[in-house]
Amino acid sequence: MSPIISFLDHPLAMLNFVMGKKDMLHDAMMLRAANILMKERYSRSEAEKYIQEIHKGDFIPMNRIEGVTLPGNRPDHLFGKFLYFIIRCAKPEVMIETGVAHGVSSWTILNAIHKNGKGKLYSIDLPNLDLKSYNPQNLSQQSGWAVPDTLRQHWELQLGSSQELLPKLAARLGKIEVFFHDSDHSYENMMFEFNTVFPFLNPNALIISDDVHKNESFRHFTSGKNLSGFQFLTKGGAAVL
Ligand SMILES: C[S@@+](CC[C@H](N)C(=O)[O-])C[C@H]1O[C@@H](n2cnc3c(N)ncnc32)[C@H](O)[C@@H]1O
Repeated sequence: MSPIISFLDHPLAMLNFVMGKKDMLHDAMMLRAANILMKERYSRSEAEKYIQEIHKGDFIPMNRIEGVTLPGNRPDHLFGKFLYFIIRCAKPEVMIETGVAHGVSSWTILNAIHKNGKGKLYSIDLPNLDLKSYNPQNLSQQSGWAVPDTLRQHWELQLGSSQELLPKLAARLGKIEVFFHDSDHSYENMMFEFNTVFPFLNPNALIISDDVHKNESFRHFTSGKNLSGFQFLTKGGAAVL
């Protein structure tokens, strides 16, 4: 069973959080996550530098439409910060993501890959932004439209269902270093995706998932494979091979 990383572990940071200063708590939780996932494979001083990049908002801007705030995992809340931070720490050559929507999480990850100076993100999404709750303004753009051209040199986006595309993509790439699930959060689909990529994961590969609280799949999968990891109190989780 994965431990839960929560504010209760960081009472001083929690006090700051209550006074409106969220950063200290988020920083402490990210460093704790890196300790669990990366162990001796990351440098604390480098990790602190990556946290400063987040504080400064040091990112290549995303494509925008005036007056529209896009939903998605960007580094202004804990899980989006964690995504950027852990990709900076892990520096994967090969990473797969399922679930792109407008491209906000892809943009976050690609900014980290861009700063790493190496690596490629392979993303899968259904075409046409078909998820109603993720497209409240009914934008007619294609999935991933928010990712700017500068970041696309590190990106391959495939349109179709993960059931159809993920087995072929995983087999083609092999040696996957990070897998991130954020597509259909049904138990069956999450188990399907985790089990599909598992044989192609590198030693020390990371499995990251948004919305692990929605069903038992992440806990069942990680305990079934005896993986160590964690989940944030609400929202996402991550495990290491
Ligand atoms: C929660 S949104 C992704 C949000 C994105 N990761 C972010 O943080 O900006 C879920 C996305 O999963 C896609 N999706 C749903 N079912 C899918 C499936 N079976 N295969 C591939 N993509 C799927 C939807 O089209 C939608 O764009």
